[in-house]
Amino acid sequence: MKKEGFDVRVVSYEHIHNIQPEDEEAMIKAINPKPKEKVLDAFCGYGAVGRNCLEKEPKIDLWLNDESEVQIKRAKNNLSKIPKNHFICSEFEEANFLNSSFDKVIIKMGLHEVPKNEQLIVAKKVFRILKPKGKFIVWDIMLTKETQLLWQEIIRKKDELSGFDMLVKERYFFREDEFLSNMKKAGFKKIKEFRIVKYRFSSRKRLEQELHNDKKRLEQLNEFIRKKFPDNLKKKLNYNDLGDDVQFNTIKKIFVMGK
Ligand SMILES: C[S@@+](CC[C@H](N)C(=O)[O-])C[C@H]1O[C@@H](n2cnc3c(N)ncnc32)[C@H](O)[C@@H]1O
Repeated sequence: MKKEGFDVRVVSYEHIHNIQPEDEEAMIKAINPKPKEKVLDAFCGYGAVGRNCLEKEPKIDLWLNDESEVQIKRAKNNLSKIPKNHFICSEFEEANFLNSSFDKVIIKMGLHEVPKNEQLIVAKKVFRILKPKGKFIVWDIMLTKETQLLWQEIIRKKDELSGFDMLVKERYFFREDEFLSNMKKAGFKKIKEFRIVKYRFSSRKRLEQELHNDKKRLEQLNEFIRKKFPDNLKKKLNYNDLGDDVQFNTIKKIFVMGK
């Protein structure tokens, strides 16, 4: 089923996720793009990862996929030199990619966008479309038993307040152990943790691009976080309530896997 979420969620991930240049550089190191390699940036959004790969290695054969027409349009604008037929606007699960056809498939902050029972289907499809020595590179939030429910509830509240109704229903933020189990079930080998991406959630950073610049909604989100946040996690996650901004740490990781 097509989700409208990202047709209305037009944001800059560099801003709301506070992405640091050294983490972007690490991602390119993890991908390690080489001339003539066929690389798929799946769940590409506005194509930021694909664009960084091209800057590093202009001779890759880059393909991009996203289910949102709005995001694909942004990606086309950002990557004007890529042939238009390399932008595949469809659910990844439905897209018609040939078996064993890509050297590398990248999914950055995309796996958690599909429902829990579809995450293994996505991983199996990546495995199928990769060439025999192909690599799968993932960047995503890696939750634990302690943090999963808290994160799911906070992001669901943020999505509700932002009016991203479809995202409230569809997203499943997984734990790292669930992710690793799915990757193994899909057949991936040599699953390597490449980098820990330190991410500090900041409610204030969601104000302009997600909460419609509405300070009341930001206050509602802050109140929600204050009430939900368990005391025993405050120190561990470096929780800080600055009044109009509630901040805490979350872990994202980059994984590289082989077929
Ligand atoms: C959080 S964004 C990440 C975008 C990009 N990878 C980045 O990190 O800059 C997730 C993207 O996944 C897309 N998406 C969600 N479900 C999808 C699916 N089933 N197939 C393809 N794209 C999907 C959304 O439209 C959105 O653009």
